[in-house]
Amino acid sequence: MARLSVNVDHVATLRQARRESEPDPVTAAMLAETAGADGITVHLREDRRHIQDRDLAVLKKMVKTSLNLEMAATGEMVQIAMDIKPDMVTIVPEKREELTTEGGLDLKGHNREEIKRFTRTLKDSGLKVNLFLDPDPEQIKIAHKIDASGVEIHTGRYANMRDDHMRGQEVKRIYNAANLISKLGMAVHAGHGLDYRNVSMIREIGEIEEFAIGFSIIARSVTAGIERAVREMVELVR
Ligand code: PXP
Repeated sequence: MARLSVNVDHVATLRQARRESEPDPVTAAMLAETAGADGITVHLREDRRHIQDRDLAVLKKMVKTSLNLEMAATGEMVQIAMDIKPDMVTIVPEKREELTTEGGLDLKGHNREEIKRFTRTLKDSGLKVNLFLDPDPEQIKIAHKIDASGVEIHTGRYANMRDDHMRGQEVKRIYNAANLISKLGMAVHAGHGLDYRNVSMIREIGEIEEFAIGFSIIARSVTAGIERAVREMVELVR
């Protein structure tokens, strides 16, 4: 049975919009676990636009399932990961100007050696290290050479596709990628852009062990919860 790790970044996005203390991503994580989540994911970005260092430290103490830290391959982040010791680290590409992560890491590029070095350092300190990659066999083979613990397949392209034929092709790429990752003995994860409608096709790929899903769940919780929130305030106002 596939596991679900809930990404609570966007609870922090809402909090940071006012620089208030709520909504607290830690509270959201606790409720997500109560609702059956198998893990909690956060992305500590270099610009700290949503999750803060405090959130990560408190989540480490509170999360009872599995804490996955998404982070860029930088010396600062590697040090934080070694200090906090989450259950898993997922290395992602990060650009300051992007709204969200755009595409997987490029292991064919110049930063391959750096990612290899950081992966080794993190693994030597006892952490599992996944790499966030497009469903590209060449990238996956390099991840294996780098000795990554697993690969999170980037499903963002699939999620954004409107054309049925193209979408079918992308599902095939993800399916082949999942098979290759599994054959190479690495953990198979997937995520980005998955929602209540598009998750079903990807869910059919049995090799995928874990899904990391954030935005659609947080967006839904705002609309699903608004009636109750308004009712409670109406009672107070009246
Ligand atoms: N996986 C990775 C590596 C990500 O960077 C993100 C976004 O932070 C997600 C999964 C979750 O994506 P979404 O918020 O679109 O569900």
